[in-house]
Amino acid sequence: MAQPSVFIVGAGGMVGATAAQALAIKETLHEIVLIDVAQDLVHGQAMDINHATAFTNGVHVRAGDYDEIREDDIVVVTCGLAQRPGQSRLELLEANANIIRDVTKKIMAQGKPVYIVMVSNPVDVLTQVALEASGLPKERVFGTGTMLDTARLRVTLANSLGVSQQSVEAYVLGEHGDSSFPALSRASVGGVPLGEFPGFDVSLTATIDQDIRNSAYKIIEAKKSTYYGIGHVVVKVVEALTRDTATVLPVCSLTDGEYGLSDVVISLPSLVSRKGVRILEGYPLSEDEKTHLKVSAEVIKEAYSSLN
Ligand code: NAI
Repeated sequence: MAQPSVFIVGAGGMVGATAAQALAIKETLHEIVLIDVAQDLVHGQAMDINHATAFTNGVHVRAGDYDEIREDDIVVVTCGLAQRPGQSRLELLEANANIIRDVTKKIMAQGKPVYIVMVSNPVDVLTQVALEASGLPKERVFGTGTMLDTARLRVTLANSLGVSQQSVEAYVLGEHGDSSFPALSRASVGGVPLGEFPGFDVSLTATIDQDIRNSAYKIIEAKKSTYYGIGHVVVKVVEALTRDTATVLPVCSLTDGEYGLSDVVISLPSLVSRKGVRILEGYPLSEDEKTHLKVSAEVIKEAYSSLN
């Protein structure tokens, strides 16, 4: 496919602008188009980020609109209302679902298949809302899911064990929310099972689950929103699509029998490539992890069905 443009809807905001900036300095795209209802804000963000590209190979960053979207472009959706201190992600649901339905119709008005990458919360439910509203095949609509939670897990494990983050292979799976769980039974460090890694102490896993799930709340309490981590998550997803890397990422997409789940959007290890997303079957989960996954799926299903 020709080099796609990346559109970011909600790019006036912290997450969208940070994702745009992170993508721009990677220099792998030719054009990033920013869309937001807040027109002054999004023009300001585009100018500011574009100035940073003077020191790169010249990715073009500009404000634009839905009618410029073309076949196979990538549309990252970060618009909507952000989580307030003490507010759960699911409480954001109603308001953001209406915004996402409206935005998806505008994205699809040009009538050609695109890729939609959902970031707005609650990301699992809103991915399903966008999938349904778009009429696109399920491979083309997915969300960042538990990628940020996974990044937090890897950084925490790496720091505790004194190794680089890239040496840690471990996933947080399930809902991007309170019922997520670290699937540590198959976690490894440099190819060594986590439990056998020199210096590993079992007490590390006792608190890690809670620490990771609480970290979003802690950051929001301290600085109102989180955006640097998710900005780089967007880069990783966009690169997997544009470079056709078939990278295994814990993104959320619609299940169709995988892991005993159907009709629910949830994060599982998945391949992301030019074909879009495909859930990786056969990732070994312990009995305990399978139970966590089922519980998480029920939480998401209940939230999604509350919309219908
Ligand atoms: P923000 O409030 O800074 O930005 C939201 C932007 O969306 C604003 O610029 C607003 O004008 C725009 N917007 C609102 N309605 C719109 C519409 N109908 N069309 C186009 N633009 C519209 O919020 P922030 O901090 O950037 O967060 C954005 C979303 O990302 C939230 O839902 C937040 O919960 C989510 N998020 C997701 C993460 C993840 O891991 N999936 C991590 C961090 C945030």
